Amino acid sequence: MKSEKYDKIFKQNKEWVESKQLEDETFFKTQYEEQNPDFLYIGCSDSRVPANIITGLEVGDLFVHRNIANVVSNNDLNIMSIIQYAVEQLKVKHIIVCGHYGCGGVKAAMEQKSFGLLDNWLRNVRDVYRHSYNDLSLIKDEEERYDKLVEFNVEEQAYNVIKTSCVQKSYLQNGFPTVHGWVYDMRSGKLNDLAIDFEGILKEIQKVYNIE
Ligand code: CO
Repeated sequence: MKSEKYDKIFKQNKEWVESKQLEDETFFKTQYEEQNPDFLYIGCSDSRVPANIITGLEVGDLFVHRNIANVVSNNDLNIMSIIQYAVEQLKVKHIIVCGHYGCGGVKAAMEQKSFGLLDNWLRNVRDVYRHSYNDLSLIKDEEERYDKLVEFNVEEQAYNVIKTSCVQKSYLQNGFPTVHGWVYDMRSGKLNDLAIDFEGILKEIQKVYNIE
């Protein structure tokens, strides 16, 4: 199918290459040699939440993993490998779990409806809904309740990052990485830091999940 948007991509790429080379002619050579990002970003696949653009970060600044509803599941070999590689090899200083208001995945998890294969994935978010069901039921406004579940989901997935042995080990040995929970508000374009208590959560988690 002929698509103008598709055809434009290579033209845009060429323009981008030229503009980068104009700024710094060694740009691509330097990028090729190594990556040294300070941040691992775990976010939602939603096309309206592009990690580098909303953070204003450049090529090489962010190691990125995105999936539906920014889930961190210990059965997911993909994300567990990414966390381990980011912590042990890249030695990232910060791990960010970033959700977003208006998340289709979180919304679907609040609905009593089947989405086929996706049900298994969304069950990770339904579990968060179940854990916070009583608190959420007190919120009468539907959009407010939905926003709150987005926040609870970010917190829970940040907990899941902190539960990993490689994050615990690295933090105790090196003092990094620190884990953060953010929510991106598509209504305003603003990033909100939920200011989760990383040290407190780590202490709490170590009572049960500590691995010597
Ligand atoms: Co989403």
